[in-house]
Amino acid sequence: MAQEVAKAQAAQNWTPDSWRNKEALQLPNYPDQAKVKETEDIIRQMPPLVFAGEARRLKSHLAKVANGEAFLLQGGDCAESFAEFSAVKIRDTFRVLLQMSVAMTYGGSIPVVKMGRMAGQFAKPRSADMETINGVTLPSYRGDIINSLEFTEEARVPSPKRMLRAYNQSAATLNLLRAFAKGGYADLHKISKWTLEFTENTAQAKRYDEISERITDALNFMEACGITGDQMPEVIRETEFYTCHEALLLPYEEALVRTDSITGEYYDCSAHFVWIGARTNQAQNAQVEFVRGIKNPLGLKVPPTMSPDDLMELIDTLSPENEAGRLTLIARMGAGNVEEKLAPLVRRVKEEGRKVAWVCDPMHGNVETAESGYKTRRFENILSEVNEFFDVHKGEGTHAGGVHLEMTGQDVTECTGGLYGIKDEDLSNRYHTHCDPRLNASQALELAFLIADRLKENKK
Ligand code: PEP
Ligand code: CO
Repeated sequence: MAQEVAKAQAAQNWTPDSWRNKEALQLPNYPDQAKVKETEDIIRQMPPLVFAGEARRLKSHLAKVANGEAFLLQGGDCAESFAEFSAVKIRDTFRVLLQMSVAMTYGGSIPVVKMGRMAGQFAKPRSADMETINGVTLPSYRGDIINSLEFTEEARVPSPKRMLRAYNQSAATLNLLRAFAKGGYADLHKISKWTLEFTENTAQAKRYDEISERITDALNFMEACGITGDQMPEVIRETEFYTCHEALLLPYEEALVRTDSITGEYYDCSAHFVWIGARTNQAQNAQVEFVRGIKNPLGLKVPPTMSPDDLMELIDTLSPENEAGRLTLIARMGAGNVEEKLAPLVRRVKEEGRKVAWVCDPMHGNVETAESGYKTRRFENILSEVNEFFDVHKGEGTHAGGVHLEMTGQDVTECTGGLYGIKDEDLSNRYHTHCDPRLNASQALELAFLIADRLKENKK
């Protein structure tokens, strides 16, 4: 079986390392190639972080998203970091994602597929190879899996050893996420305990409390009817939670490719879902070559510069069998651009009968530098892009299938606006991101309610 699959892949000229014959953008120049090889060999011997069966299950959920029967919530850090790693931070992001999904499931009467930009989101593409601060020019920071954010010559040298630390941190993160998802934390009976202290007393907290009360009433009713303890369906007691990151650092991703013992197919076992970023989306290049041969469900970021023809070529390459669930298109157009840039793409994909899920990333088209010098995003622009995304899909008769967010459960001040009215001068208070500015918990919940309202409107 495995041999047959390997033969079929070879017929398409794909092997886990065939990307090495292609042009690769955004990869670090490691000074010591022997050390890179040594590290890859170590990772190749490590257990997979996810199991192929889980990736297949996720694919079946994403097929529902593509068919208009579910909504995808993808969220987490822009870049995970070694310094910010803690159980509390993982828990807080996980619980905001749970709260958001309750708001959307309840308001929109639609199942929500939950995926964290967690347990592997370490490598960052950069617009410039070098960075200059106060007249000093050094190589750019490329994420903790590659080099360090610290602005010294030594810290910016790419080190392959960092891949091992990223692997270990991902394993520990996944372990905790699985425990939260399956070990009782995500039990709907605990819904009122997911609230975060600093979001109390806001309008959305009140709205969330109302929903939790209604859900608790429904659960009490079920119990009164005799559905108690272990009889309570799994979907009430547990949740499914998946992980994803950008398929960027190919030596690491390749070292985590495993052959599934059940189907004989190749999976990238670094995460359930990986995506192609906006800077590495050339159909002939290395990252696209790598992901086309793995069987995980895939994402493709769609920037405003992508033409309908380029998009069709990428869809043909990434999803040649046109299987729903295989490919999720993550549009990141920027507020004010969505009708003009996204509508023609959605129309073309629909005309050509391609089964894809459409998701909105309202973050990466809305980055700006505030007067204070901080890189920020305006919450109003993020809301606006999501609204425009829903409008386009309504106009085209297609499904607005999900959102892809940079967010955290912490009370950070990185994006301006929102209910607390964060201003430019507040950004320095709690600006902790290692890369792009994230929504804080209260902004994330506010956005979830807006989405719930749009989903509800679609049901009418
Ligand atoms: C990201 O998701 O962090 C990112 C870099 O996005 P994009 O590739 O869309 O710019
Ligand atoms: Co980002």
